[in-house]
Amino acid sequence: MLDKTINKFATYKTARGIICCSAVMLAVQTPIATAGDAALKTLDSFEKVFGVTEGKRRNHTKGFCFNGMLTPNDSSILGYSASELFSGQSEVIGRLSHKGGKLAPSDANIGQYGMSLSITTASGGINLMSMNTEDFFPVSTPEAFAQLMRAKATSADAVKTFAKNSPELQHYAAHMAKRPKILRPYEGITFNSVNSFYLVDADNKKTAVRWSFVPAASQSINTEPSQDFFYKNIQRNIDKGEVVWDMVVTIANEDDVVDNAAIQWTGEHKQIVAAKLKVSSVSSEDVGQCTDINYDPMVLSAGLEPSADPILQARRNIYAIGLSRRLTEKQNNK
Ligand code: HEM
Repeated sequence: MLDKTINKFATYKTARGIICCSAVMLAVQTPIATAGDAALKTLDSFEKVFGVTEGKRRNHTKGFCFNGMLTPNDSSILGYSASELFSGQSEVIGRLSHKGGKLAPSDANIGQYGMSLSITTASGGINLMSMNTEDFFPVSTPEAFAQLMRAKATSADAVKTFAKNSPELQHYAAHMAKRPKILRPYEGITFNSVNSFYLVDADNKKTAVRWSFVPAASQSINTEPSQDFFYKNIQRNIDKGEVVWDMVVTIANEDDVVDNAAIQWTGEHKQIVAAKLKVSSVSSEDVGQCTDINYDPMVLSAGLEPSADPILQARRNIYAIGLSRRLTEKQNNK
């Protein structure tokens, strides 16, 4: 059912149609108009902060596509999930991106990044993932995130006022300030699911997890850093060896909070290197296959399920409206 969603999203051209269908499919508790309105307003705030990037994504705007394969690694994961991702090879159409809605941020400046994966299993099951380089999210609810975006669209003072009243954002800012400031290429960076998901076994037993894609080997900068050097850098690393990420699945401990992306899971955890993602080629968004994909992280095939984390749930409508806007603009500019 969810697999068909992707095609539906690609054919619906109006935001109204997309909000309607996303909400019905999810059986979201919130009334449709409320969830849709909130998503529209959040997207409007992105446009106020970054400008309208016609025909392009409103967040993670700069990026490029890649192709690769996901190969199972440690069969102990099959004790938790019947997902085909862990029993056979899957094809990947991915996208690497800079966080934020700026059209052309420089690769030479240290930033936060995103990795999106459309993974098709041997029998045609589709799994979509959108991860980023944050360890946890700045706030725990879509309402708080919408307020933060509105504050950013208003003024620096409005952001300060929001931060003063948000212990979550203060905690996030303190954490981010302590992270090492080192410029790394996309292929040398760890991407985190941030939101939680469930592994589901053949008896329908669910285990809460988060996952990360961790570079399997250290990947260097091999090109003089400049505005757009990431593309050439990854191409050189693909040519000279391997660009591989380990899919590291972290199993929740009993006391971990599952449905709150603003709370990091700390301390000892069982981790399984469930699969390996190997990149075979990269291509620009002009010709690549990732450009018109809606990387809705709620689309998962049997053996994986989304958690009830409200941030994860809210992403579906927002991304669908984003896709609708950029496809409509592209159509109109033909
Ligand atoms: C309420 C919270 C969030 C909002 C409002 C939001 C908003 C957006 C928007 C508007 C887009 C562009 C969608 C498009 O045009 O296709 C986007 C893309 C993206 N977001 Fe989020 N996001 C949220 C949470 C997250 C989280 C928690 C993560 C990481 C785990 C994340 C990672 C990404 C990535 C990687 C992309 C790029 C997808 C692509 O390449 O197509 N976002 N986000």
